[in-house]
Amino acid sequence: MLGGARRGNFFVSTGSCDSVRRYVFYETSKNDHGLAHDPIKSCVVPRPIGWISSVSAAGVVNLAPYSFFNLVATNPTFVMYSSCGRTAHGAKDTLTNIEQTGEFVVNMATWDQREPMLASSASLPPDVDEFSVAGLEPLPSRLVKPPRVAGAPVHLECVHHQTLELPPSVDGRNTVVFGRVVGVHIDDRMIENGKLDVRKVSPIARLGYFEYARVEHVFTMQLPRRPIG
Ligand SMILES: Cc1cc2nc3c(=O)[nH]c(=O)nc-3n(C[C@H](O)[C@H](O)[C@H](O)COP(=O)(O)O)c2cc1C
Repeated sequence: MLGGARRGNFFVSTGSCDSVRRYVFYETSKNDHGLAHDPIKSCVVPRPIGWISSVSAAGVVNLAPYSFFNLVATNPTFVMYSSCGRTAHGAKDTLTNIEQTGEFVVNMATWDQREPMLASSASLPPDVDEFSVAGLEPLPSRLVKPPRVAGAPVHLECVHHQTLELPPSVDGRNTVVFGRVVGVHIDDRMIENGKLDVRKVSPIARLGYFEYARVEHVFTMQLPRRPIG
């Protein structure tokens, strides 16, 4: 049985084992963690980066990274990403474009393309082609209009399924956007023995603060056997 007591920002828990852990506890509504930097984005790591291309109603190509992103279902296959707040010029273009045109592409962000990925996060007006700004070549998609990022090892062609509206922040809308994945491209040089070899792909992920991770070490574990009877 675990017990403990609150001391300032620390909850000192005493376990039945011989270790004693001190946890910082804070309520998100107060953000009273007492730390020099907000820890919340370090508390859910690593986060994959959905590098999302879209096209505006006027036909301008847009690209931006989103790390509140994940694959959330298969057969049928869905991804989600979350658009939080706004940019210097107003609503985030990716959200506007997806809601207006109903399509987007998720490009996998890798170590090799970390710099253009970061460059594409700049807050630029909706009439600026962000592939050009980031120095990237667009590849045509098969089923949707937004282009794919040349050099990315994986592209997911998506159609907008639903936008879930969360309570807004002081900075604007907080939304979760669900997309149905209708087409998948995989660079065949990244396939080894019938599997996508993540060591060759070298994806990057977002941590907290300005930190990132690169997948370098991979290990395998088998599922536990079903109990008999
Ligand atoms: C690695 C990385 C991950 C990001 N993840 C998110 C995210 O999950 N949600 C979000 O709203 N903004 C996120 N941003 C910020 C957006 O990329 C940024 O606001 C961008 O200007 C939006 O571009 P857009 O207006 O073209 O959509 C992230 C930035 C970086 C560098």
